[in-house]
Amino acid sequence: MKHLDPDLSFETRSVRAGSMRSAFGEHSEAIFLTSSFVCDNAAQAAAVFSGDVEGFVYSRAGNPTNAMFEARLASLEGGEACISAASGMAAIQSTVMALAAAGDHLVVSTSVFGATVQLFTSILPRFGIETTWVPLTDPAAWAAAIRPNTKMLFLETPSNPLMEVADLPALSKVARAAGVPLVVDNCICTPALQRPLEQGADIVIHSATKYLDGQGRVLGGAVVGSKDFIDARLRPMMRTTGAVLSPFNAWVLLRGMETVSLRVLQQSANALALARLLEAHPQVERVYYPGCESHPQFELAARQQSAGGAVLSFSLRVDPDMLGSAGDAPTDTPAGGQAGVFLNRREARLREHAWRLIDACELVSITANLGDTRSTITHPATTTHGRITPAARAAAGIGQGLMRVAVGLEDPLDLYRDLQRGLPRPKPLA
Ligand SMILES: Cc1ncc(COP(=O)(O)O)c(C=O)c1O
Repeated sequence: MKHLDPDLSFETRSVRAGSMRSAFGEHSEAIFLTSSFVCDNAAQAAAVFSGDVEGFVYSRAGNPTNAMFEARLASLEGGEACISAASGMAAIQSTVMALAAAGDHLVVSTSVFGATVQLFTSILPRFGIETTWVPLTDPAAWAAAIRPNTKMLFLETPSNPLMEVADLPALSKVARAAGVPLVVDNCICTPALQRPLEQGADIVIHSATKYLDGQGRVLGGAVVGSKDFIDARLRPMMRTTGAVLSPFNAWVLLRGMETVSLRVLQQSANALALARLLEAHPQVERVYYPGCESHPQFELAARQQSAGGAVLSFSLRVDPDMLGSAGDAPTDTPAGGQAGVFLNRREARLREHAWRLIDACELVSITANLGDTRSTITHPATTTHGRITPAARAAAGIGQGLMRVAVGLEDPLDLYRDLQRGLPRPKPLA
């Protein structure tokens, strides 16, 4: 593989880093859709299998298209090495398996993606791995949660869906003092806006499904870190466990990464414009977007990220008339995520209003994915975070009135008009 000068700019490396050419001299990177690779003779096969000679043997252990994707992402994140995975969840699960074993303990932010919560609460305890949940924005709580058997600090920043921002340099000090790796899911910002390794993180995780692809086409994941962790620990493990990326998906992701900076910057600008319009609407209670001055970590986000990102959430101002006779009285609507727990009347009305707004959208797609060039809207409490318990949802601050928009490349005014269809009409002034 031709190694590019690391001083080349991010944009140059987005289209060039990691490229390899076969004997045919193709300009566009090739897709190596092959499960295995042929050797010249038995001795060479033995040497490649044992690792004495570099080469590809079987695509579960490595594939040239995946290697190009990995080298490009490592370059963009500023990491020594990268390994691709079948999905973002495969990347998270594999990282935990490489770092922790039965009897170990992890410290994890309460503000993480729903399936990530499920992994730490429902799956890992079965393998003897315990988790302490801490608020993303309170470094003292992270320090206090560390135990002698803690093996990893894990967070997303900004978090999905509330866009809370972690103080990475502060948390990296906590991690250093404890001798524990700080693992950051950088899916929402991508390296185009934020490079956690430069701010003291040890390992970066991606759901490449999101902005690295950028067009909602394939699932993929990746882990970036030191050669020692990725190549010596994680790669041999994933070669055996098999949660690897398809070479076809790696090729799609290589195409996606060529435009990541252009897309994510423009989508962030669109998200900021939409956030400002929503903030000015009398029926919008709160907009959660780190690019807005109203965001509690606006200044931290401005230091850590080169733009706010393309995801925002908002809730409606629900005045007593809209809530009707709502209150704490229970309804028969299941809260979701735990049998026997029901919404109260207030929560049920909030859900109703949020769903009404979502259902009125004609342009914005009702889908839980994010990272697409086309804007999407979802109700996190019943979709991305619908399977976690009501208590975990409350800890993450995800109420029934919250809606998340992942802003695409459409004109933000068109998006605003579309969302306005379902916004309750302001009450006439008396
Ligand atoms: C922040 C974050 N991390 C991880 C994931 C999981 O990624 P995947 O769906 O590729 O497994 C998601 C999916 O939405 C996500 O939003």
